[in-house]
Amino acid sequence: MLVHIKDIVNKAEQGGYAIGAFNVTNLESVLGVAQAAVKANSPAIIQVSESAIRYMGLKPITHIVSTVAKNVAAKVPIALHLDHGSSFDSVFECINSGFTSVHIDASSLPLDENINLTKQVVKVAHAKHVWVQGEVGAMIGGHGNTNNFLKKIPLADLDEVIKFVHETKVDTIAAAVGTAHGVYRNEDIILSLLKAIKKSVNLPFVLHGGSGVLNSQMKKAIREGVNIINIGTDLKVAFCQSLIKVCLENKNETDPRNLLKPTIKAIEKVAVEKMKLFGSAGRYIVGGVET
Ligand code: G3H
Ligand code: ZN
Repeated sequence: MLVHIKDIVNKAEQGGYAIGAFNVTNLESVLGVAQAAVKANSPAIIQVSESAIRYMGLKPITHIVSTVAKNVAAKVPIALHLDHGSSFDSVFECINSGFTSVHIDASSLPLDENINLTKQVVKVAHAKHVWVQGEVGAMIGGHGNTNNFLKKIPLADLDEVIKFVHETKVDTIAAAVGTAHGVYRNEDIILSLLKAIKKSVNLPFVLHGGSGVLNSQMKKAIREGVNIINIGTDLKVAFCQSLIKVCLENKNETDPRNLLKPTIKAIEKVAVEKMKLFGSAGRYIVGGVET
């Protein structure tokens, strides 16, 4: 079922677990995440980036997610979120399309400009009861990058995060704490920084760059108060590896569905593993009631 993000994130905060925010790029990935949520009895956030919206169209993807949430995942809660919105206009369009949560990412701007833009978004979003995620300390890397090494992963400044949250009144906060977009050998989570942020701002913390982080680190981060974990690259890799393998094995196939069907299962498998790791699995029993 399609729900407001606050309904699942507030519960995750109270319950001390995290919800996966899965980046989708096509129908197959939406189906894979929805099936995973059903299989794991878990809440899920389905999120789209601006490039995913350019690829699929805002109206089509909004309708696909809401229809799949209602039909495929009728018994578990799913929320729709804009990931890394870069401008007021792009965020505004998603708010008007029925998203219940938007990320305005002005983290590469000077702090005052980031605060100003985020405040404008919060004003219009809150008037429509939509949650806003703000970000401090720009993330580096690139979605889909794998097996590389980053020279230095920058960290957010604690005082800047506190000032940002205080002035913008965002609902969830993302900040650079040692992860990066993509999979890198030297990704880490600086738990002391995460702990200090959580203690100072007392908001649901969103961990970006979830692919490539060791499971043991992830568990510790959840204990320190991470409530949303973004997963993009791991799903892209699962999709592409599945598709390449099936195409190579079935070069004469003429029905696209036979090539694409296994990608849905591949995405489902990765998403179920993440739901178990994040502690969101098993939180909803049949009937949509939280256990
Ligand atoms: O915003 C999306 C994410 O932060 C995904 O990062 O590709 O490292 O999983 P990832
Ligand atoms: Zn991100």
